[in-house]
Formats: sequence, structure tokens, C-alpha cells
Amino acid sequence: MEIIIKENAQVASEGAARVVARLVREKPNAVLGLATGSTPLMLYKELIRLHKEEGLDFSKVTTFNLDEYIGLPRDHEQSYSTFMWDNLFRHINIQPENVHIPDGMAADVPASCTAYERAIENAGGIDLQVLGIGSDGHVGFNEPTSSFASRTRIKTLTQQTVADNARFFEGNESMVPRHCITMGIGTIMEARMNLLLAFGEGKAAAVERMVEGPVASVMPASILQHHPVAKIFIDEGAAADLKLADYYRWVYGGKPDWQRDA
Ligand code: PGA
Repeated sequence: MEIIIKENAQVASEGAARVVARLVREKPNAVLGLATGSTPLMLYKELIRLHKEEGLDFSKVTTFNLDEYIGLPRDHEQSYSTFMWDNLFRHINIQPENVHIPDGMAADVPASCTAYERAIENAGGIDLQVLGIGSDGHVGFNEPTSSFASRTRIKTLTQQTVADNARFFEGNESMVPRHCITMGIGTIMEARMNLLLAFGEGKAAAVERMVEGPVASVMPASILQHHPVAKIFIDEGAAADLKLADYYRWVYGGKPDWQRDA
């Protein structure tokens, strides 16, 4: 794991955007795995700026989103499809046919999950997966005790995730869907790079367990300790509980320029 601690979420997001932009410039037909939630918003704003001001070209890029609520039509204001079009896709030159988001209204959920996995495979696999982390340690919607071998499938949200996400549903937990479709941990682990962002003290405990705790399915994000290229972009708040924070800063500060992409 590479732990990159920046002074605030904006600077961390700009660093993460540089990693994404470098990939897209080197490989114009890159396959990006994308995430929703509050955390990647500044990353997406920066990618939009890079597109508008520096011509970052998404015309050949393919995307796969991590997850979607079951029961919300694509045009529902809280669907992850709406989130992605409002916060990124509408503002860049991505081809709509290259965008993939699990279908929360699928009549046959298992079949749609299998088809999603096949589509990722047919696209050549995910080059770079953007991740957030839930306060309960989930990545995607792989809640605690999710199998590390899991693939795209239906999951039930934890009560904590329902409570965390109620802010998007007028603060009303009863309006938050209980089920979702999410890429599995096995799917996420096959991405060639994982780029996880976490900001604020509310994420500090989960970040500490992910980075410095044992690898265990009760802390799904801890599996990233086994990923060969996992970049963890965090702010000071999310770094607050890390015992080796000074070491991570020392490592990052001592990197040669050619290795410092953020
Ligand atoms: P957040 O969610 O970015 O809204 O904090 C992260 C997650 O649940 O993975």
C-alpha cells in the first residue's frame, strides 16, 4: 500500500486526479472503475477541469461503476446513475455507450450481475479502480464479512451504511434502499490499480484498520494490503489514527520525482 497524506481533501483529490489523468493520457482507451458518494466529488471536479482546460480526452475511455441501489430507476435523483451523470459524465466527452453502471431495476438480478462481470472482462479488465471506504470498512457495497472471492452480486446494506446514507434521502433512513448490486471484492482485486480516497476524522478509524490492522473480511478494505498497486489518498483527518503516519510521510517525501505521480 502507498499511503499518501495530503494537507486537505482538495489537494489529495488533485493528486488522485493526476494519477487518473496520467493513465488516460498514456492509454486513451483506459477502463476506469468509478465510485459514488461524497468522497470522489472533488476528484471528479478536477477531472472535469482537466478535460475543459487541458483537453483531457475521455472519448475512448470505458467506465464501470462499483454499485447501484436495487429498486431505484436510473433517473431517480438518488440513483448512482444520476449521480455519475450529474457529477462527471455530463461534463466530459465520454461516449454514453462506454458507461456501465449496475442496473438496480434488473428483472433477473443474478443474470445482470453475471453479464456485468462479463462486460468488464470483455473490456479487457479495469485499469484503475476508484474507491471510497465506508465508516464500517466497506469498499463498493461489500459490507463486513463479504467474501474476499466475491463477484458482482446482490448485497444487503448494514444498518450503519443505511444511517450514513440517509443524508441523501432527506435524512430519512426508511427511504434508503436496503439492497444493492455491487462489484465483489474479487472483482475489485483484479483491477490493475486501486486508488482509494478517504477524508475527515469520521473515516480515521476505518483507515487505521484498513492499513494497519489484520487482513480480515470484517474489515473488507483491509484486503487492499494484498493488492500490488493500492494508492491510498487521505487528508490529515482520515490519517489521525495511523500509528505510522510519520513513516508514510517520510516515504512519500523521499520519493524520486519519477515515482511521485501525485
Ligand atoms: P462517502 O461514502 O464517500 O459518502 O463517505 C464512501 C463509501 O460508502 O464507500
